[in-house]
Amino acid sequence: MLEVDGVGFAYGRAHVLNEVSLSVGPGEIVALLGSNGAGKTTLLENVSGLLTPDNGSVQFEDEDITGMAAHQTWNRGLVHVPEDRKLFPDMSVDETLDIGTPRDISDEQQASLRRRVFDIFPILEERLGQRVGQMSGGQQQMVSMSRGLMAEPDLLLLDEPTLGLAPDLADDILDTIAQINNEGTTILLVSQQALDALDIADRAYVLENGRITLSGTAAELRQTDEVRQAYLGL
Ligand SMILES: Nc1ncnc2c1ncn2[C@@H]1O[C@H](COP(=O)(O)OP(=O)(O)OP(=O)(O)O)[C@@H](O)[C@H]1O
Ligand SMILES: [Mg+2]
Repeated sequence: MLEVDGVGFAYGRAHVLNEVSLSVGPGEIVALLGSNGAGKTTLLENVSGLLTPDNGSVQFEDEDITGMAAHQTWNRGLVHVPEDRKLFPDMSVDETLDIGTPRDISDEQQASLRRRVFDIFPILEERLGQRVGQMSGGQQQMVSMSRGLMAEPDLLLLDEPTLGLAPDLADDILDTIAQINNEGTTILLVSQQALDALDIADRAYVLENGRITLSGTAAELRQTDEVRQAYLGL
């Protein structure tokens, strides 16, 4: 479904990504692990079109999307839920869901997409009129993911969805990610909470200083010394 091949990217003269290659197959949850500043967010931005790779290519569903603008990849079903949630604090939940909703769908389709979102996050139905800036961090993460789900993504790029959340809430969000995947959405999950991410992932990659240094099934990676020491604290 997603094929990243030899992607390189520099901010000015600062090389952040070097020859990064990875793939995500239909139906998978693939985790991308790596410490602060490894280049995880930059990689997602190069995939979704917020940034354009200097080298290499990105294929999505057999189409070359290298350098395509973010609104075009979004329309194709590749949806990026960003690290800092990028919500407008003065907008209501209702208005925020509308941002993610394709403009050309019928009222019935919109209602059924909302129904699906409320099945996943029931609290949002009760909070439709609330300003998102007044909500807790966990609820804001739900709003940000829901805005993405309204686009009916084939592939969701999730950047640190549990960052800053209390452990219970983080567990809830991870369960929800597994549920969204079970219902048919493929997921590329960036997380510093490696143990949790590996719990729900099929496969994983480790990115260090802009290079992929390890990859394998989640079970394999959980057993490597590098991952145990660097990310699992074992
Ligand atoms: N807009 C920018 N301009 C210049 N350098 C940047 C910019 N954004 C990120 N960087 C640098 O690029 C490198 C990779 O950053 P990036 O945010 O992709 O890492 P990350 O793996 O997502 O880190 P974190 O786990 O902290 O989110 C870092 O050295 C960072 O300082
Ligand atoms: Mg990041």
